[in-house]
Amino acid sequence: MAKTTVEVHLTPQDLAAQLRADVAAGLSAAPKTLPPKWFYDAVGSELFERITQLPEYFPTRLERELLRRHSDEIAAISGADTLVELGSGSSTKTRLLLTAFEACGQLKTYVPQDVSESALRAAARLLETEFPDLTVRGVVGDFTGTLAALPAEGRRLVAFLGGTIGNFDPAERRDFLVGLSGALTVGEHVLVGVGLVTDPAALVAAYDDAAGVTAQFNRNVLRVVNRELGADFTPDAFDHVALWDSANSWIEMRLRARRDMIVRVDELGMTVRFAAGEELRTEISAKFALADFEAELAAVGLEPARGWCDPGQRFGLVLARKAECSAG
Ligand code: SAH
Ligand code: AVI
Repeated sequence: MAKTTVEVHLTPQDLAAQLRADVAAGLSAAPKTLPPKWFYDAVGSELFERITQLPEYFPTRLERELLRRHSDEIAAISGADTLVELGSGSSTKTRLLLTAFEACGQLKTYVPQDVSESALRAAARLLETEFPDLTVRGVVGDFTGTLAALPAEGRRLVAFLGGTIGNFDPAERRDFLVGLSGALTVGEHVLVGVGLVTDPAALVAAYDDAAGVTAQFNRNVLRVVNRELGADFTPDAFDHVALWDSANSWIEMRLRARRDMIVRVDELGMTVRFAAGEELRTEISAKFALADFEAELAAVGLEPARGWCDPGQRFGLVLARKAECSAG
């Protein structure tokens, strides 16, 4: 049997239908919004990888260091033989977990799941040569919808890294955590990386880098809508905006129209007007106090077993166990 496979739970037709629905709803809302899921075509996934290497973008470096220090303990406590990763992207940091699991002879299967087929296939190809004894079962899927369809055999650890949990609004986050808890068997574990509340200036800089890579990533969503739905956005006519919303404890990314514009979205038969200065919200990235996030996990029956953060308390990792009885 092949050791590396990729299952497609989300076909290009499914994705096209979801994009149409999201764009139709988001561009007729006030204020206008688009979900962050649509950043990640092949170009967007590569831009995200460049973001992770920027001097201003500290979350990836801090999480990598936490994984370097604690992966052995995570393998021991979880006792898992199957690592499922949601929104796995390039799986770069995950190698630290895979190496730790391999060292204790524990891991049989790695299940990376991502909406970006290109990122998933590239990661699976590399892992195949780096971890020849590992079974890699990639899943192209949406972590907001298909968790019950993930492989259920083995004793699983489900990793959700990078602070991606912060890209949900509070209601979406609660739904996601309820679904995650419901998909697990008692005694299985989750490992979640969370951005922590820290100096707003450092946070804004992390989302508005001097080289302009995050601005390109942000505008990429307009290129995706142009290509997929025959729209005629001029991406360079929008300024990248990153701001700290202290009331909601999140970074918000927006695209601000430089002038009045009329945009056609041919495939939807839609005409969208932007006034000069009008903003389209493209992403939130919530930041937490570690204890508050642990309480959110406990509320859905995921009992925190261990939590770690960097010395500057800017990024955290929580390992939690699916408890006997879910309170959520
Ligand atoms: N976990 C990696 C990548 C984070 S970037 C890291 O820590 O570096 C966020 C990833 O989530 C991207 O690879 C993107 O394609 C994926 N993603 C975004 N929305 C998704 C969704 N709804 N379902 C599945 N994957 C999604
Ligand atoms: C994937 N996610 C956790 C990133 C974040 O930090 O919210 C996406 C990102 N947006 C801008 N820079 C990085």
